[in-house]
Formats: sequence, C-alpha cells, structure tokens
Amino acid sequence: MNSKAQLTITHLTKKFEANSVNEKTALLDFNLEVQKGDFITILGSNGAGKSTLFNAILGKFLPDKGSILLDGEDITYEKDYKRALNIGCLYQNPMRGTAPNMTIEENLALAYTRKSTHRFFAVNKKDSAYFRELLASLDLGLEDRMKTKMGLLSGGQRQAAALLMATIAKPKLLLLDEHTAALDPATAEKVLRITRSIISERGLTALMITHNMEQALAFGNRTIMMDSGRLVLDVRDEERAAMTPQKLVELFSRSARQALSDRTQLSVS
Ligand SMILES: Nc1ncnc2c1ncn2[C@@H]1O[C@H](COP(=O)(O)OP(=O)(O)OP(=O)(O)O)[C@@H](O)[C@H]1O
Ligand SMILES: [Mg+2]
Repeated sequence: MNSKAQLTITHLTKKFEANSVNEKTALLDFNLEVQKGDFITILGSNGAGKSTLFNAILGKFLPDKGSILLDGEDITYEKDYKRALNIGCLYQNPMRGTAPNMTIEENLALAYTRKSTHRFFAVNKKDSAYFRELLASLDLGLEDRMKTKMGLLSGGQRQAAALLMATIAKPKLLLLDEHTAALDPATAEKVLRITRSIISERGLTALMITHNMEQALAFGNRTIMMDSGRLVLDVRDEERAAMTPQKLVELFSRSARQALSDRTQLSVS
C-alpha cells in the first residue's frame, strides 16, 4: 500500500435487500486508492452506486465485504459519528448539515468546535474575527450577516456557508455529493469556484460527484466513472488532459452497454 494514500477502498461490496426479489447490488468489488491532496470527480448514471459509496465511507451502513482505510486507519467498522469528525460532507440539498435556526456565526462555531469535548461553546472575539475572514473570502457579503439565521440564506449562500462548515476543522476527506446540482448555473459556477479554492488552499483530499461531464474534467486532478457499483473508468494526467466531454459521453454509454450485456449474460447463465 502506498504510504501517501489518504483513502484506500478494497473489494467493497454492498447488496441491499439481499436474498429478496428487490435485491440490489449497489457496490460490487469496488477498489479505489486516493492520494493525499487528490481531488477526484465521480461520474456515473442514476443508480450507479455513487452516493452508496459515500454512505459506505461515512459508515451509514456496514459493507458485506471489503475494507475502508482513512489515513492509514481501518475505519470499516468504526461508528458513523466518529468518522464524521474526520470527514466533511455536502449534499445537493443545501438544507442538510446546517442548523437553520442558528446564526451563520453559531453554525461555524459549532463546526469549528466539533472535535472539542466541551458540551457548550461560546464564540470568542478571536474566533469571530476568523469566521468573518473566512466568510469574506467567499465574496458573497456574508461577513456582514454573521448574526443572520442560516435558514434565511438563499440556496447558494447557504451551500457556500455549508462548505466552510464542512472544511473549517480541516477534515481528512471532503465528500461532495452533487452539491451544486440544485443551484442556478451562475450560482453553481460560483460555488464550484469557491469549492476549488477551499480545497487547494487547505490542501484537502476530496471526492466530488457530478453529472456534468465538463465539470468532471475541469475540476480536480482525476476523474472516475462508476457503473452498476463498479469502477469502470479512471483517468488522470495526460490521458485526462486529452479527454473531452464528448469522449466521456461515449465511454459512459459504452460502459452502460457493457453492464447491460453483463447483466443479460448473468441472468441467462
Ligand atoms: N438504503 C437503501 N436501500 C435499498 N436500496 C438502496 C439503498 N441505497 C441505495 N440503494 C440502491 O442502490 C443503488 C445505487 O444507489 P445510489 O443512490 O448509490 O446511486 P447514485 O449513483 O448515487 O445515483 P444518482 O445519480 O441517482 O444519485 C440504487 O439502485 C438504489 O436504489
Ligand atoms: Mg446519488
């Protein structure tokens, strides 16, 4: 195993509703090694297993087979709330993961002190100045609205603030599950730019699920594609530099055809 690996997933397999008519193989012998500082974009059709992969990493369920190592530590059977201390996560719905009735400042303070053992927190002047500086870096004017309740922000503003919350404690891994999909194109673009700068400034390791082929190639340093719970494409370096959204679409439909033919063969054999 590479000593610089930040995340190592080996033979990960998960069947939902096993041994029933609704049995669904969401992950099948899935392997992935992520290096420290990698920013990987993840493509795959609906139901390919992308969110299931994130849920497995987050410990929302235990896999049937396989293992997950985070920064060299085996977390395969670690409780989800413990993993959450080291893994930041953002979803499509900007309402998830933030406390709508608390102010922006309080939300950031909660995220900032997540790892501390104190049950109560107070925002001191130093922290407040730091939050203000972070909010100013978003360039959305939120630094002047620190006392505004999170629930009153627009989707884009909230997603940008949620991104700060997810990264303020410098997680070992940042998972982004279509986090700009519910935003209008201009806001999505802005949140993506903020995402890119936070990841690079903080030297984070990140996985980002997207359905947008252009984004998948424009962001990060490596692109993978999933289909039927498996890894079907993994491009980086020169191969990625030469990749176009058009070629990705072709590979995408080829892998879908292959999966269909595999499934047909499985059901006749
Ligand atoms: N908790 C669950 N119980 C039963 N089936 C599940 C569960 N979670 C996921 N699945 C199934 O596993 C498969 C993979 O789902 P998943 O949500 O990972 O897809 P996805 O790649 O994220 O798709 P999308 O692009 O639509 O978000 C789907 O067939 C889904 O119905
Ligand atoms: Mg999904």
